[in-house]
Amino acid sequence: MIEIFYSKTEKETENIGENLAKTLKMGDIILLTGAMGSGKTCLTRGIANFFKITQVHSPTFAIINQYNNQEYQLLHLDLYRIENIHHLDLDFYFNKKNQIIIIEWGEKIESLLPQNPIKISIEIEENNRRKMTVKTP
Ligand SMILES: Nc1ncnc2c1ncn2[C@@H]1O[C@H](COP(=O)(O)OP(=O)(O)OP(=O)(O)O)[C@@H](O)[C@H]1O
Ligand SMILES: [Mg+2]
Repeated sequence: MIEIFYSKTEKETENIGENLAKTLKMGDIILLTGAMGSGKTCLTRGIANFFKITQVHSPTFAIINQYNNQEYQLLHLDLYRIENIHHLDLDFYFNKKNQIIIIEWGEKIESLLPQNPIKISIEIEENNRRKMTVKTP
């Protein structure tokens, strides 16, 4: 299934993330693609809000951030700087209970994933508008 959403502000993008989160199942993997500053982290923040996880930030130097609360674990990867994707031990990270996985620059890892991901691509249009295309397997 393909769905398209438009957002004019950062807040709207977060809200779209929150709404998307309602449809997720534990164990889902979300691949985010889109240029720098397109809103991948912003959308991630919205998804995290739904799971009552706050303080999601851009992992500038870290490749992986894990956020936990009592119920959920959000694994947030940003592969922008990774040179060799095979250096990541995916089995180690991907097998936790109650886990949602969100991967920025996700196209780099797609072929190594254990399951089909939900793919979200973000395009920057005029006047800060963002077009988000969500493809569910
Ligand atoms: N409609 C919009 N939706 C989301 N962000 C927007 C929008 N309009 C403007 N912005 C701005 O765009 C930037 C998006 O930043 P964000 O860190 O989410 O991007 P990113 O895709 O994660 O970038 P990077 O590839 O560097 O990690 C923010 O500065 C935000 O204020
Ligand atoms: Mg980011």
